[in-house]
Amino acid sequence: MKKNIAALNSEFPTLNERFGGRRLVYLDSACTVLKMRCAADAQRRHMLLLGGCGGKRSLHSLASAMEEDFYGARSKVASFMGAESPEEIIFTSGVTDAANLLANAFPFTPLRNEVVFSPLEHNAVFLPFERLAAAGRIKIKVAPLKDFKVDMGGLEKLVGAKTALVCVTHAPNIFGGTCDAAAAARIAHAAGAYLFCDDAQYAPSHGRCGAADGADACAFSGHKLGAPYFTGALCVKKPLLGRLRPWRVGGGTVESVTRSARGYGAKYLGGYQGFEAGVQNYSGAAGLAAALARLDRAGFGAIREHVSSLTAGALKALDGVKGVRVLGDRAAIPDGSLISIAPSKKGFSVPDFNLFLNQEVKGRLVAVRTGRHCADLACLNSGYSETIRLSFFSYNTQADTDCFVSALEKYLSLL
Ligand SMILES: Cc1ncc(COP(=O)(O)O)c(C=O)c1O
Repeated sequence: MKKNIAALNSEFPTLNERFGGRRLVYLDSACTVLKMRCAADAQRRHMLLLGGCGGKRSLHSLASAMEEDFYGARSKVASFMGAESPEEIIFTSGVTDAANLLANAFPFTPLRNEVVFSPLEHNAVFLPFERLAAAGRIKIKVAPLKDFKVDMGGLEKLVGAKTALVCVTHAPNIFGGTCDAAAAARIAHAAGAYLFCDDAQYAPSHGRCGAADGADACAFSGHKLGAPYFTGALCVKKPLLGRLRPWRVGGGTVESVTRSARGYGAKYLGGYQGFEAGVQNYSGAAGLAAALARLDRAGFGAIREHVSSLTAGALKALDGVKGVRVLGDRAAIPDGSLISIAPSKKGFSVPDFNLFLNQEVKGRLVAVRTGRHCADLACLNSGYSETIRLSFFSYNTQADTDCFVSALEKYLSLL
């Protein structure tokens, strides 16, 4: 393990905790990455030393210090996401919040009211639009799945003159690998549509987001890269940002409230301010900025290299196990941060295996994720209703995978 990765790993105190006396083998970073001390410290410091309100409501010096700090975090997030300016960043509580915002603020018109999804979208992105479709406001289409990947040719065929938006996940959370966001952007733009890229799984170990590949909007969640819970951002490039409609409105989003003979009205602020209603998660943003700075210092290139070697190593180890099947495109798996398997041996019960991992591995608590992973589109389109997923971050080693594989082999031997 490289020195800067080892130094980064000292930021994760959970790794030193014992659970029922057992050491944690954490293979569930796609769900959430363990939290970094520097991020928690920054959040705590911010709450205790500042603790006021930003957003230009009050004009005293504490309020200006808060707003300055908040804008500093916005700038840090902007450069991480590949935004052209901090003004393109809307702070959110994560990708779920970002996708709900985008769906409800998006400028659909009767002539452009279709959304085309990759078949690997997380429910966080799919469902906000599905609700609009169920209410008859838009139409949705889902591209085909081919060899556990988006069939880009199939996606292209669905995109046309009525397409308003294309949604792709940059790195799927169920079958691993990555999706070619630049190709998706070309397809969307050729039809005059916008591209939204879900960077929840891509950002943490690639250190960049879809805006850098041509996406008009993209989002990531802070908790998936070691920052505080309920932090994250939606980046919307200026041409689209200027067309979004006010959605969640309130204090801080309005230029003026007026009264005329026709009644009351409101004029909303343009840009990101029109979407950050109410008092914000200022201390969370400080924690998020601290996490991004720490990961930057370790080097996203080194993080990516480390995680790639783990996914490649897991692929090799799991390929050798009789009784399970690796799901996903083998060539693409090392470019992602996770690997999924499905049982092929009769009698294998995924819930039983989960219990086995949780209780029967001597001295170790092996934490993986099993089930549908909120990736219902992928499950419906692949025919797999559940998988066992191992996901990695900087703190994992091949020994973690080996520990999982030996538990898996022991479980299989009991069947
Ligand atoms: C690909 C993907 N998109 C979106 C989400 C939702 O993220 P959050 O719960 O942080 O909003 C997740 C969470 O697992 C995910 O894996």
